[in-house]
Amino acid sequence: MQGLEDPRGAPLSTADPSNLEALERAHALALGFQGDPIAEIDRALARDPDFVMGWLFKAGMLTQAMETRIYEPMVAALEAAEALADKANERERGHMAAVRAWVEGDFTRACERWDRVLIDHPRDLLALQLAHLSDVLLGDVASQRDRVARVLPEWHEGVPGYGWVLGFYAFGLEENRDFGRAEEMGRRAVALNPKDAYAIHAVAHVHEMTGRQAGGIWWMTSRRDDWAAGNFANHLWWHLALFHLDVGEIDRVLEIYDERLRGGPGAEGKYQELDSAALLWRLWLYGHDLGVRWTELADKWAPAATDSLYAFNDVHAMMTFVADGRDDLAERVLTAAERHVRRGHDDNVAMTREVGLPFCRAQQAFAEGRYEEAVERLLPIRCQTQRLGGSHAQRDVIALTLIEAALRAGRYRLARALINERVALKPTSPQNWRLLGRARQGAGDQDGARKARARATSLFSQPLQNAPAE
Ligand SMILES: [Fe+2]
Repeated sequence: MQGLEDPRGAPLSTADPSNLEALERAHALALGFQGDPIAEIDRALARDPDFVMGWLFKAGMLTQAMETRIYEPMVAALEAAEALADKANERERGHMAAVRAWVEGDFTRACERWDRVLIDHPRDLLALQLAHLSDVLLGDVASQRDRVARVLPEWHEGVPGYGWVLGFYAFGLEENRDFGRAEEMGRRAVALNPKDAYAIHAVAHVHEMTGRQAGGIWWMTSRRDDWAAGNFANHLWWHLALFHLDVGEIDRVLEIYDERLRGGPGAEGKYQELDSAALLWRLWLYGHDLGVRWTELADKWAPAATDSLYAFNDVHAMMTFVADGRDDLAERVLTAAERHVRRGHDDNVAMTREVGLPFCRAQQAFAEGRYEEAVERLLPIRCQTQRLGGSHAQRDVIALTLIEAALRAGRYRLARALINERVALKPTSPQNWRLLGRARQGAGDQDGARKARARATSLFSQPLQNAPAE
């Protein structure tokens, strides 16, 4: 039986148009961070259990959850696809090999397998999406840009889904500090689809990295209706909160946390917990009283204390445990991570050994007032933190922890050097100048401290809410 092609020309073994329609609907939901793509494809699979690409879509999407509670459905979907290997086409077998590699913990080989599919089918939007998102999870910064660049010339506005590809490219360019082109690509994607949350997010990252807090607040709030109802909203609220945090609007940061991240509809799941921990830790570093928020969040993270599936999750779990004084849970994270490093064989071993464990131990030292130890644990890894995965903006929490530990340890000259580096990259950040003021003060440079504080105040006092976009 002749198989179908999707609207981009990627071949499927199924000949049933309703399967293709269901896959397109489910994929559109996933790309747009809307609804429940898995439930959508499950309905098609219940109707036709021989729908190979349906199983592969489900298994592929579940790889991105990075949670043990997702592991069994992911493996079951892959095995259902593999049982149909004889009916599958070569593209589908490529997806099978990729997800199989992922299940075996070889995330890098999974990306390479998806890339093989893309070499033959550069308009395979699913392979591109899964490999791109995996590049972010793995911290493969160059591939976040170049994997998209390899296929982009084969796309144009007439190909359905082109905007999503521009959004991927925008993020990849931004992470490689090509901010001008990143913003151009992101804005083009948003012009094609104002509800493209991933492209909105890429442009938010450009604002974050270039210290355009006022523009960032405007960018996010002026199109809030386009992103705030989707499944990416928690992370986008986190980004908005970062802009407010930088300029010192702590009440607004807490308002966003309490109203958007702390609880309520949609505030469930690992990604919400990651963003919540990342925001509270930044506030905590600067000495803000967070009340019972840590306790609530540590309770949510508690079941993950022995997961050690993904170092990026571990470090965020650890933040909540040490900040809330949950020593038993913190020890469990360390024990599980150490055991994983000794016995594991997957890509997460290196991520844990090189960045995850040192940062977890540094957090524990910091929380217990052993600031000098926290400094010494973080200094050797500060230039390799991309191995943890995530974005520059997310991993900045490591740099901020190191600086705060250095300040509290009285290592003012070290702190000054580290902050000088930040100010050079982002001179419009009031937060950077506030930190520099503290370091200079500690180092005995009273005049320099006064100037840094004055700079922070002058940047902070600029009107933000009504600032023009650019
Ligand atoms: Fe982000």
